Amino acid sequence: MRTQIVAGNWKMNCNLDETQKLVDALKVKDFSKSDVEVVIAPPYTNLHLAHLSLKDTPIKISAQNINENESGAFTGEISPAMLKSVGVSYVIIGHSERRAIYAETDELLAKKTSTAIKHGFKIMFCIGEVLEERKANKHFDVVKEQLDKGLFHLSAEELKQVVIAYEPVWAIGTGETASPEQAQDIHAYIRKVLAEKYSQDLADEISILYGGSVKPNNAKEIFAKKDVDGGLIGGASLDADSFAQIVASF
Ligand code: PGA
Repeated sequence: MRTQIVAGNWKMNCNLDETQKLVDALKVKDFSKSDVEVVIAPPYTNLHLAHLSLKDTPIKISAQNINENESGAFTGEISPAMLKSVGVSYVIIGHSERRAIYAETDELLAKKTSTAIKHGFKIMFCIGEVLEERKANKHFDVVKEQLDKGLFHLSAEELKQVVIAYEPVWAIGTGETASPEQAQDIHAYIRKVLAEKYSQDLADEISILYGGSVKPNNAKEIFAKKDVDGGLIGGASLDADSFAQIVASF
């Protein structure tokens, strides 16, 4: 059985006080009764606080990015070892906002995935098409290419540390979601691509999350689909009640 995961991507939201309030609110939700792996990804400056506040809970801490280098003259960057030292266990790589706004290429993302594996992080690797690609019926080709270039240099053993997040760019922060059927179709396709590249057994082990305007009122329908193993949640993860309702949607 694949791990079901609900991860909150806080993006560039919440100062230290707001982070404390949100983690305190999450702490009392008692996710220990559920089989779902719960992950939150606060901004860099708040990772340590989140880790210390949640260390007696099952909630895991993720960074929203990772640098591909070890250390040195990279002004403004955060090293993988620094992330390790503040209690991070997951890293998000390839979010569409990093690809689009910060021009992160597939080649760079491939380096980041290798670095993350080397440092023992689990990876949430994001893929997904923009609206024009969806309209032109190119979404299958787009995600295949993103997988090929960013991820498929990993060995089968390394791939076991990866969770894939399918996030159609047109559904992120827009209030639009892929229909449960659209999500299922492309998740099944992603699993087929994984099986062709590695093996069916490995493809059946990899969790594939859906992201893009997942809310308490639509999570259940989306998570009910066979190849949807959870969600990467943006906006709705900033409210503890909404996030907990999404976790409870399985
Ligand atoms: P959203 O963001 O839930 O606000 O659409 C999802 C994401 O970007 O991971």
